[in-house]
Amino acid sequence: MSDLLVPLYKLPERMPLKGFAVRRVMAHEGVAVRKWVEAEFSSGWASEILPALSRTPSSIFIAVDGSSQKPAGFCAWDCTALGFLGPVGVAENYRNRGLGRRLTVEVLYSMKEQGYGYAVVGDAGPVEFFKSSCSAIIIPDSAPGIYPEVLT
Ligand SMILES: CC(C)(COP(=O)(O)OP(=O)(O)OC[C@H]1O[C@@H](n2cnc3c(N)ncnc32)[C@H](O)[C@@H]1OP(=O)(O)O)[C@@H](O)C(=O)NCCC(=O)NCCS
Repeated sequence: MSDLLVPLYKLPERMPLKGFAVRRVMAHEGVAVRKWVEAEFSSGWASEILPALSRTPSSIFIAVDGSSQKPAGFCAWDCTALGFLGPVGVAENYRNRGLGRRLTVEVLYSMKEQGYGYAVVGDAGPVEFFKSSCSAIIIPDSAPGIYPEVLT
């Protein structure tokens, strides 16, 4: 899979998400968020978000379901490499409601405020999601990019 480039100078509006709060993860929530990411997605992603959870302020946002106060989705940046957005994930039962787009756009605004001009999505799976959410374009000749062979 290829990497994607996202311009931070023409970001879409942050649309309101009824029933959900989108906010940064606080330090005391780190273990809970890491366990949730491992259970919902993978141990690889639970590892990948460790740098995001370790800095202050964290570089990871979550969407919290207002009716249960449980996480519904997350998006991190500056994890595997500086300037990289991801991982991003929405729990299966919350998909297709705009949460993934909202989280991604929220992170892109933070990256812009931090001083980045572009964000990179490494080894992007759902390319169409990133194209429609934030005008991402494919970076030519970017596979396998920075990623080494998977450990066995
Ligand atoms: C990709 C993911 C984060 C999208 O979250 P979501 O909350 O369901 O997405 P949204 O509801 O915000 O969708 C925004 C737009 O992207 C489209 N979209 C959503 N998921 C998509 C997918 N997997 N492939 C292509 N398009 C997708 C939606 O149809 C919508 O399009 P529209 O603008 O025409 O309405 C979610 O499906 C997920 O967690 N997948 C597994 C993890 C993953 O692959 N993460 C990306 C790692 S690089």
